[in-house]
Amino acid sequence: DKAGHRHFMAKEIAEQPSRLTSALDHYLTEDGTIRLPAPGIDFTDVDRLTLVACGTASYACLVAKYWFEQLAGLPVDVDVASEFRYREPPIPPRTVALFVSQSGETADTLAALRYCRDKAQSIVSVVNVSESSIARESDLALPILAGPEIGVASTKAFSCQLLVLAVLAVEAARQRGKLDDNALADRIAALRALPGLVNHSLGTSDETGRIAAQLAEARDILFLGRGRMYPLALEGALKLKEISYIHAEAYASGELKHGPIALVDKSVPVIVMAPHDELFDKTVSNMQEVMARGGQVLLITDREGARVAGHGVWETLVLPDVAPLWAPILYAVPAQLLAYHTAIAKGTDVDQPRNLAKSVTVE
Ligand code: F6R
Repeated sequence: DKAGHRHFMAKEIAEQPSRLTSALDHYLTEDGTIRLPAPGIDFTDVDRLTLVACGTASYACLVAKYWFEQLAGLPVDVDVASEFRYREPPIPPRTVALFVSQSGETADTLAALRYCRDKAQSIVSVVNVSESSIARESDLALPILAGPEIGVASTKAFSCQLLVLAVLAVEAARQRGKLDDNALADRIAALRALPGLVNHSLGTSDETGRIAAQLAEARDILFLGRGRMYPLALEGALKLKEISYIHAEAYASGELKHGPIALVDKSVPVIVMAPHDELFDKTVSNMQEVMARGGQVLLITDREGARVAGHGVWETLVLPDVAPLWAPILYAVPAQLLAYHTAIAKGTDVDQPRNLAKSVTVE
């Protein structure tokens, strides 16, 4: 049931405020403390996290790496499951292996989990389908509470995966003595603000549609982001490829001059995801290098970012202000809406893109 929407994907994008609220209610108590299901995780007993997943879920892991490392001082390795499982990586003691999967049935992710389990590792999973193999074979399965996701392109599962990983990173920081009570309350209040902000940014849908009608003409599109926005650039490019079939690539914006800038000319739209955060100026200087070569920049930012750097860009999409740490959860929305509207403009099958399956149970 598409609940009045044209596609499941549109419905699932629109559901995000309520799905994020469900996840927040599940993991946060009324008095603002974090509640993990038993047996929980003792982060004081952990020296390293290994995060493993495929596709969009692996981008959620990449964002989480920034969070765990910056907030909790906990080193994180991220790997795609198909590489991890065959590399036979050594697993140091005091490592937690964490698997992220919407379906909980992805063959490579499950095989990677079993590899770690055979090494007597402690296994945590972040899953949408609670009855899945990955959930069942974990010591601790953390549900994302996104509800059934039908559209092949993952949307609400991504934002809910990010939210659960954010809660986990805050909890790790708390246990490891990296957050005092005030800082903890601030982080949690900022998480609580997300459903409202996501709801607000859904209001950019019409404007995104207008921009997407022009993106639909492009043959190649570049996405750029820095720091915790780099994985969002990857997600934006993946989403666009999947449903609009336009070739899109993402780079950490600092990598631009190490190669990809050779691609830039006026036929290549460049989408820059950059809230006005501590790395904004660096990203803007990369953006200016693109503009100096005729690149058509779509800047996705906040009001301050648009004020400081909006002149001369092709288009600007302005999102509400958000705590910089949690910006990836908010910026997932324009990444999804751009792909959705570009696919609509091209007339492709949004919910059932060619060659793709919702759950990849063969390797
Ligand atoms: C992208 C997408 C895929 C999945 C990937 C992992 O929109 O849906 O990249 O994220 O196949 O699937 P799960 O999360 O079910 O393990």
